[in-house]
Formats: sequence, C-alpha cells, structure tokens
Amino acid sequence: MKRLNKVLKEDGVETDLIMLIRTILATTKEIAFRVSQGELAGVLGSTLNENIQGEVQKKLDVIANQLLKDTLIDDDLVKTVASEEEDNAVGAHPEGKYIVAFDPLDGSSNIDVNGQIGTIFTIYPAKVDVPYDSDEQFNQPGTNQVCAGYVLYGPSSLLVMSTGGPTRCYTHDLTHGGFLLTKPELLVPSKSREFSVNMANYRYWDESTQVYFDKLLYTSEEFDKSSIRYNAAMVGDVHRILCRGGVFMYPQDTRAGNENGKIRLLYEANPLAMLTENAGGIATSKGRRILDIQPDDLHQRVPVILGSSEPVNYFDSIVY
Ligand code: AHG
Ligand code: MN
Ligand code: MN
Repeated sequence: MKRLNKVLKEDGVETDLIMLIRTILATTKEIAFRVSQGELAGVLGSTLNENIQGEVQKKLDVIANQLLKDTLIDDDLVKTVASEEEDNAVGAHPEGKYIVAFDPLDGSSNIDVNGQIGTIFTIYPAKVDVPYDSDEQFNQPGTNQVCAGYVLYGPSSLLVMSTGGPTRCYTHDLTHGGFLLTKPELLVPSKSREFSVNMANYRYWDESTQVYFDKLLYTSEEFDKSSIRYNAAMVGDVHRILCRGGVFMYPQDTRAGNENGKIRLLYEANPLAMLTENAGGIATSKGRRILDIQPDDLHQRVPVILGSSEPVNYFDSIVY
C-alpha cells in the first residue's frame, strides 16, 4: 500500500501544499488520540460556552479547535485561518500562500455516545490584495479549493481527501503512524435508495420539500424499499455515500436560524461537495451547484443535497 506522501507526489501536488496537508494531518493524529482516550482523558461533555452560531461547545470541540488553530497559525505557509468555532478569521502570516478553514469536530452530539465524529478541512489560495486577518480572504467560491478532506475518527481513523483529482481514501496506520492508501478512487454510484435526512424536521419543511418526501415514502416505485441512514454527523453520512452511494439532505426550514438550513458553506458544504463531485456525485443547494456559490459571510449556512446523481436531480426537479 502506498503512503500518502508518495501518492501526493505522483499526483503532482506542489511541495508547499503537501507540507501544509502534513501539518494538518499531524494535528488530526493528536485529536484522534484524545478522542480515543475519551472519558479517561476527561474530554467528554460540554463547556459553559456557545460558539458564534449559538451552539453549546463540547470540550472536544474546543480542544480540537485550539490544536488546529495553534498549529496552523504557526505555519509560514498559512495566511489566514477560519474555524466553525471562531467568531472571525484569524491572521497567521501576511505573506502566507494559503488560507485554511476547518470544522474541528463535526458531529459533536455524538461525542458523548462514542459515535462517529470527524474533522473537516479545506485549503484555498490566499488573496494577495486582502489583509491577512480579514474574513474577506474566504469570500471565494468552493471551485477555488485546492484541497478538501476529512479525517473520520471511526472504528478506524480514515483520511478522505482530494487535491483536485480523484477522491482517495487512506487508513491511519497506528503501528507506523502514517496514512496508507486503501481506496485509490471512491466512486459514488448514480442510483441509490439510501437517504440521510433528519425526518423529524418534516413539519418545518416548506410544502414542496414535503411533497417530495410524500412521493418518496408513499408513491414512488423507483424509491420503493428505500432506507434511511442518519448519523447526526454529516461527515459520517457523506463517508457512507462516498463508499456506496446515497443522498444527504439538510433542507432549509421554518425554525428561527434555519432559514438556510443548518450546514455551513465554508466548513462543511464546500469541502464535502468537492469530495462528492470528485467521486462522481453531485452537490446542490436550491437547485444550484454548491461549489459555484459566492459566499458573503464566514459562517453562512446553505441548504444541502448531495450524493448519487439520480436522486439528487429528482429532488431538485420536484422542489426547484
Ligand atoms: P457540528 O457537530 O459541527 O455542529 O455539525 C453537526 C451538523 C452536521 O454534521 C449534521 O449532519 C447536522 O448538524 C445534524 O443536525 P440535526 O441534529 O439537526 O439533524
Ligand atoms: Mn459540523
Ligand atoms: Mn463542529
């Protein structure tokens, strides 16, 4: 099995980007260790704080955020850092070549039940003419991403990443400490009957979304024998979809603050959309390609539907 470094070199990834990816992954190994220690390290449970989005921060959210932030602002290659757990962009180095955004722990509600959680990250080129500590560094569409990936802290720790080419999967080899290529190219089948959606939100959805689910559940022959698989960690749901197909959905709803759904464009939707597209799937928001959205806010949320192309297109044809 090939090691990550060799694969990235063979893929023609530039040396600076490889170095930055390695820095991020060194930190995720430390997060993986803390996660594995769980209760023994006293890292489970909540803090007394909320993040900018009004969500209670878990201890592991705060630890993972601090580890990634500290490492990245120490790296000369990095101009600016943004995190789901930080109010604003954090300036690192004015001459840095890249900007990095991350969701330090996705699926926080799973922490205390030993469920699936992961770190999602994305790298963009830095804007030369924008200050290093400005949120505006991240006003770039997802098509500008030069690397997107996640580390899933599951039964095995896995890295799924694309640097523009195929979406590849690596397994963390605990005996030697590296990531080994275990699935060279993930491919999402175009058809699937697996759905990943929080059905308890049905009453809050708009009428067209409800109509879609009514057809799906009660009348559509094509989706007869469908199954729902929902993790409450988008990273885990998307991982299953990248491995065997399916659809992840988080539509907008009528609850206060959910006018654009719940999923954050910068830290979740864009990196996972890039990984999905580079594995042959599609990712849309209100019928538009997620990666083409021009962001206007660091913590912007967007409705998301992504995965196998046929069911995603079917959803968009009925709802938009
Ligand atoms: P986070 O743990 O980073 O706050 O993200 C959780 C997100 C996403 O990963 C997941 O799919 C969704 O929230 C679950 O939301 P519901 O509990 O509303 O279904
Ligand atoms: Mn998240
Ligand atoms: Mn998070």
